[in-house]
Amino acid sequence: MCGIVGYVGRSQASQRPLEVVLSGLGRLEYRGYDSAGVAVVCPDGLVTAKRAGKLTNLLDDLAEHPLTPGSAAIGHTRWATHGGPTDGNAHPHRVGGLAVIHNGIIENFATLKAELLADGAEFLSDTDTEVVAHLLARAYEGDLTEAMRAVVARLEGAFTLLAVHEDAPGRVVGARRNSPLVVGLGEGENFLGSDVAAFIASTKEALELGQDQIVTITADSVDVIGFDGEPATATAYTVDWDATAAVKGGFASFMDKEIHDQPKAVADTLLGRTDPRGALVLDELRIPEATLRSIDKIIVIACGTAAYSGHVAKYAIEHWCRIPVEVELAHEFRYRDPIVGPRTLVVAISQSGETMDTLMAVRHAREQGASVLAICNTHGSTIPRESDAVLYTHAGPEVAVASTKAFLAQVAACYLLGLYLAQLRGTKFPDELREILEDLHALPDKIQRVLDDEEAVRHVAQKMADEESFLFLGRHVGYPVALEGALKLKEIAYIHAEGFAAGELKHGPIALVDEGQPVFVIVPSPRGRDQLHAKVVSNIQEVRARGARTLVIAEDGDEAVVPYADVVFRVPQTPSLLAPLVAVVPLQIFACALATAKGLDVDQPRNLAKSVTVE
Ligand code: F6R
Repeated sequence: MCGIVGYVGRSQASQRPLEVVLSGLGRLEYRGYDSAGVAVVCPDGLVTAKRAGKLTNLLDDLAEHPLTPGSAAIGHTRWATHGGPTDGNAHPHRVGGLAVIHNGIIENFATLKAELLADGAEFLSDTDTEVVAHLLARAYEGDLTEAMRAVVARLEGAFTLLAVHEDAPGRVVGARRNSPLVVGLGEGENFLGSDVAAFIASTKEALELGQDQIVTITADSVDVIGFDGEPATATAYTVDWDATAAVKGGFASFMDKEIHDQPKAVADTLLGRTDPRGALVLDELRIPEATLRSIDKIIVIACGTAAYSGHVAKYAIEHWCRIPVEVELAHEFRYRDPIVGPRTLVVAISQSGETMDTLMAVRHAREQGASVLAICNTHGSTIPRESDAVLYTHAGPEVAVASTKAFLAQVAACYLLGLYLAQLRGTKFPDELREILEDLHALPDKIQRVLDDEEAVRHVAQKMADEESFLFLGRHVGYPVALEGALKLKEIAYIHAEGFAAGELKHGPIALVDEGQPVFVIVPSPRGRDQLHAKVVSNIQEVRARGARTLVIAEDGDEAVVPYADVVFRVPQTPSLLAPLVAVVPLQIFACALATAKGLDVDQPRNLAKSVTVE
């Protein structure tokens, strides 16, 4: 939430600081788009500009009123927490020659504000951030880093802060606690960003900052200290994707592009994780094998779409490994006194690696003695850093706020984890494991086949743009797929949508069904050994009998659904446990096409932000 960029170069009066910051904000806008602002340190002082609304409002403003060239700049794109999305509440916040931008929440801001007001400070916004600007201006005695150190000692909550001062040209000072900040290393220039997207167009060399650290960048130096003032080290790494991965590449939206990236996202996540004999090798899983053999419970913690990937994992891991798996929303987990101990493996799933709810749950689990494995898409982010081990998904940068390719990659990574545990604990024979792995490797092509049929899905979606409510039904692994289909429609098309376990229908939800109610049904494979297929076909008939219009996701060749379906979207035949990776794709295409038909901004839906870094 909130995107932050900082830049320093050698020239005292160049347009590059502003250009770098604005292009970085463009790539970070998915983190928040309520307002945007910049501050540039110029030879004759500090200049700032900020505007409510999307970044384009600020860009229009700057085109009419260009800022003076300078040596350093900071920029911010906001997801509002304290104070509405107005020009005044936009960052930077300025006091005299000092400007500050912030991501996070200063929890004790009310106390600090009262103190500052009593001391004569004048506030121009309703934000918590402005207290930091006043505190920094008061603490500044010629050394911005020292001032930052004095101020962070007084702050409670989560924050990334960047500050510049007109008396300290060629310098940006940043600080982080519980909120992301990475350093980009250039030649005669350096960068700061909420994530590497901020500077990926200029450098791939980065530094991961640790918790409670202050960083001071100039054109030629990067100095890191702890909040205690002691020198600290930051870990260097090279970013493994390039700027083109974060452009639309001819698609109408990032979401559309990312849906089409999915065969590659899954293939890349599976790549290189088997040895020549076909056995799974998860080198990065640095939890000792003895610990993994001894675990007696897995708890998956995650939020939103990532939690639905955990729901799918539960079915697969329990079946393959015979270990009980609980799936818990991260924000509920740590407030219910969960039963966690050294024999619990906690799996924290997060695309961004910055979701505060998940991070706090990770800390809680580790305090209780559990081993924590992160499944994450973002290198250098906080959750993998604070976990015992990490299994990276290789979906590439996900820019659209609604998660698509990260979901598929998370599910694929969970399958790998399940199969690895089964191999380690001997709950599956090597031949069985090899067969499942082969099925897994066949998935990217199958996902591509669903994408090849997207026109049929789009056509139906466009005709349903005026609907006010959708229901989604699924059983077994189809249930989390139903939940995910409903979430996609809610968040980008602003349509009421609810997912149910199909068996639950008769226990209440069927009362919602009347004439014309659209109902999606995710149908399991008729080749499955259990009776599920027949039961779900009965569920279709039950809603149809009450007037529902049924949109059915069914395998190629499943003719049993045809008499009861108004529309059938076909997916390739896939073993039951792996089917979510194909079944969810038509639902993503449907939501994206319907929201586009409504004229909505599918990449930046209202009220949301990509990285939820507040609790
Ligand atoms: C929905 C969506 C969210 C995220 C959730 C967790 O499309 O994107 O529900 O899945 O906020 O985010 P991460 O995975 O970054 O922890």
